[in-house]
Amino acid sequence: MNKTVLILGGYGNTGRLLAEWLLLTTEVNLIIAGRSEIQAKTLAGDLQPRFPGKQVTGIHLDAANFNELLLAFQRVNLVIVASSTTALVENVAKAALQARIDYFDMQLSSPYKINRLRQLENEIIAAGCCFITDGGFHPGVPAALIRYAATQFESLIQANVASVIQVNWAALSFAEETKIEFIRELQEYQLLVWQQGQWRELSWYHAVKEFDFGQLLGKRACVPFFLEELKCLPEQFPALQDSGFFIAGFHWWIDYVIMPLSFFLLKLSPKLAKPLSQLFWWNLAKIGHPPFGTSLLLEATGLNQGQSQTLRVQLFHEDAYQMTAIPVIACLLQYLDGTIRKPGLWWQGNLVAPTRMLRDLEKLGITVEVKVDHLLKTLNS
Ligand SMILES: NC(=O)c1ccc[n+]([C@@H]2O[C@H](COP(=O)([O-])OP(=O)(O)OC[C@H]3O[C@@H](n4cnc5c(N)ncnc54)[C@H](OP(=O)(O)O)[C@@H]3O)[C@@H](O)[C@H]2O)c1
Repeated sequence: MNKTVLILGGYGNTGRLLAEWLLLTTEVNLIIAGRSEIQAKTLAGDLQPRFPGKQVTGIHLDAANFNELLLAFQRVNLVIVASSTTALVENVAKAALQARIDYFDMQLSSPYKINRLRQLENEIIAAGCCFITDGGFHPGVPAALIRYAATQFESLIQANVASVIQVNWAALSFAEETKIEFIRELQEYQLLVWQQGQWRELSWYHAVKEFDFGQLLGKRACVPFFLEELKCLPEQFPALQDSGFFIAGFHWWIDYVIMPLSFFLLKLSPKLAKPLSQLFWWNLAKIGHPPFGTSLLLEATGLNQGQSQTLRVQLFHEDAYQMTAIPVIACLLQYLDGTIRKPGLWWQGNLVAPTRMLRDLEKLGITVEVKVDHLLKTLNS
C-alpha cells in the first residue's frame, strides 16, 4: 500500500515545493497541513487534478496542539516538518513517537532543537521510528559533500564547504514565526572550525575566508557557521586536518550594522524578537539585487597513491527554495525505497548515500559541477 506523508507547513515556501516534488517523484499520498485550513485545502485542490492516481488533502493543524497532532499523525507514515516551529519541536516529535510514525525536519540546526531531539533518542529507537533531522541544503548537504569527497581520495586532508544565497527577498513572503525564528537562530551561530585535530572557535579577525563562487556570484568573504552534521566527520576521516562550513554575508549594512545591533538588543530583551525581526527583514528586502542564485561549494584536498589532488564540487540553483526542497527529496527517495530507513535519530547530511544524492540533485535540476585538479569530471567516473 502507498505510504501517506503529512507536510506540516505544507503551503509555505518550502512546503509547497516539497508537495509538488513528492507527487512528481514518488507514489505517496499527501496531506498538506498548517494553521490555515483554507490555504491547505486550496493547495491540495490545485495539486489533486494534476495527480489523479494519488490522494491529496488539506487539513488544519497547529504544531502547538498536541492532541490535534496525535490525531492527524495516526493516519500517516511520515511527517515532514517544513514549518517554522522549532520552538515546538518537542510537541511534534512526541506526537510522532506516540503515533509511532517516522519524522523528518528541515529547520535550521539550532542547539535547542537538537537537544530536545537527543533527549528523545532512546524512545525513538525503542519505538522503531526513524527520525531524520537537519534536512535541507544547509543544514543537510555540507556533510554529504564532505563524505562524497572522502570517497574520491585514499585519505581526505582538507574539506571546506561554503554557501552564498543571493535572493530577491522583497519578492518573498514568510510566516511571522519564520522571520523571528531566523533571527533567533542566526544569533546562536558559532564560528567553529576543525583545525589541527580540534574544534576551534575563531575570532572574527581570523574567521574570514574567501571562496570563489565563479562568474555569476563572484568571490565572497565567508565566515564559519558550525553545523551539527560536521561534528562526527573528523572521527570518520582521521586524516582530516582542516574542515568547516562557511557562509557569505548578506550586505555590509546588514552584516556589520543591523545584525550586531539586533543580536545585542535581543540579548538584552528576548521580547524584542518581533520588532527586531521586522527591522531585519525590512532591510533585507531593500538589498536584494540580481544576479540571483544560491550555491554550495566544496573545496577539498586529499592523497591518492601518495600524490596530492584537489577536488571542487559546486552546486547551483537560481531559486533558493528549490535548492532547499530538492535535497530533501533526494534524501526522501533513499528513505522511501528503504535504503537508509532505520530506527534512530539521524542527520540528513550523515545518513544519505552521498554519490547517489549528488546524482539525484542533478537529475532534479540542481547544477552539479565536479572538478579534479581543475579538470571537469562526471559524477559517474
Ligand atoms: N535547511 C535548509 O536548507 C532551510 C532552508 C530554508 C528554510 N529552512 C527552514 O524551513 C522552515 C520553513 O521555511 P519557509 O521559508 O518555507 O517558511 P514559510 O514560507 O514562512 O512557511 C512556514 C510554514 O509554517 C507554517 N506554520 C507556522 N507556524 C505553524 C504552527 N504553529 N503550526 C503549523 N504550521 C505552522 C506556516 O503556516 P501558518 O502560519 O498558516 O500556520 C507556513 O506554512 C523554517 O524553519 C526555515 O528556517 C531550512
